[in-house]
Amino acid sequence: MSEAGAPAGRPGRLGVGVVGTGRVGAVLGSALRAAGHPVVAVSAVSEASRERAASLLPGVPVVDVPEVVRRAELVLLTVPDDALAPLVAGAAELGLWQPGQILVHTAGRFGVGVLDPARAAGVIPVALHPAMTFTGTSLDLSRLVGCGFAVTAPAAVLPIGQALVVEVGGEPVVVAEEDRALYHAALAHGANHLVVLVAQAAEALAAAGVAEPGRVLGPLLGAALDGAVRNELPDRPGHRGPGALAALTGPVRRGDAGTVAEHVAALSGHAARTGAVDVLAGYRTLARSATGRALAAGFVDDAAAQRLLDALGDAPPGPAADGTADGAADGTADGTADGTADGTADGAADGTADGTGRVDDDGGDGPAPDAGGGRA
Ligand SMILES: NC(=O)c1ccc[n+]([C@@H]2O[C@H](COP(=O)([O-])OP(=O)(O)OC[C@H]3O[C@@H](n4cnc5c(N)ncnc54)[C@H](OP(=O)(O)O)[C@@H]3O)[C@@H](O)[C@H]2O)c1
Repeated sequence: MSEAGAPAGRPGRLGVGVVGTGRVGAVLGSALRAAGHPVVAVSAVSEASRERAASLLPGVPVVDVPEVVRRAELVLLTVPDDALAPLVAGAAELGLWQPGQILVHTAGRFGVGVLDPARAAGVIPVALHPAMTFTGTSLDLSRLVGCGFAVTAPAAVLPIGQALVVEVGGEPVVVAEEDRALYHAALAHGANHLVVLVAQAAEALAAAGVAEPGRVLGPLLGAALDGAVRNELPDRPGHRGPGALAALTGPVRRGDAGTVAEHVAALSGHAARTGAVDVLAGYRTLARSATGRALAAGFVDDAAAQRLLDALGDAPPGPAADGTADGAADGTADGTADGTADGTADGAADGTADGTGRVDDDGGDGPAPDAGGGRA
């Protein structure tokens, strides 16, 4: 920690070491540097990481992981999720962690438990998760302003994590250790699945002869997203109302079961012609959730909700699939049951080709090839 490059005599400044100059590490390191904390060393092996280091953290020495840990007062572990635990444990075995060192990771799904081997050596553990998608370029820096960051840490350490977030322009949001998985699932459901929704809608529009689906979807979806999120803000009028659902428009809100039936028929035809069964499946699943939530919000009555569910057809088995609107009445339970029980979510869940008939990857969130590469 006392190596050359550590902050010399500047009170409150921490010498930052970045382990993993990936998309997040390079950007957060750069933001901390802009906030006055010198970045004393980074690790970067691949060409992409070295380029990010050169462009976002020019002049910072690129060294191996043990050397980064030795030099830093604040170690930023920005490695793939699956590499985190082996890295922390490996560095602990090598005796690299130093008492009083602040150790921060940015994996959404983990709290500070994953840092336990380092904590045993006296480090101060902090889990910071920026609720943002990163490109690994300077474009991301402005996106940090106002960005929510989950902060998980032992109570006495929370102010350190919160202060770091504020310093880079973010908004700290305390998330309990035991709630991290649910927190992360919620963000993935919102952000990742929104992308899938756009892909499905664009595909159906293209099949309907729309040459540039993105141009049609952009303004409409932008307005819908803006309205939905605005209705979830604490200072909105009528805060105790239906939240995002207040922004719902369309046939479910109006109780137009005939329109819904026609949509199902059109998407069934699309599925038969192209094999893209996931668009129909996604429509049915979300329209059932919309029906349950519209009923709970008082937008439609029991009879209208029933007509909508009938129009959607293919009710899933299980408690929420009794053919009545009751199973959907609380909205939340309906959405959960639908997503798992109608046999249509499987394709998306197992990462095989049968969800879309065409996709064959792991959804882009699997471990990087070098995960757990034992670089410590
Ligand atoms: N990307 C996002 O939008 C986002 C948003 C919020 C939070 N996060 C979280 O932030 C963390 C980093 O994600 P990312 O997207 O920045 O990942 P990334 O772009 O794939 O970068 C990962 C970095 O970790 C390095 N690395 C891989 N395995 C390592 C190991 N065993 N030891 C040391 N370094 C290793 C890589 O180095 P080389 O390239 O040299 O191999 C690379 O620099 C993850 O926990 C992720 O969940 C990501």
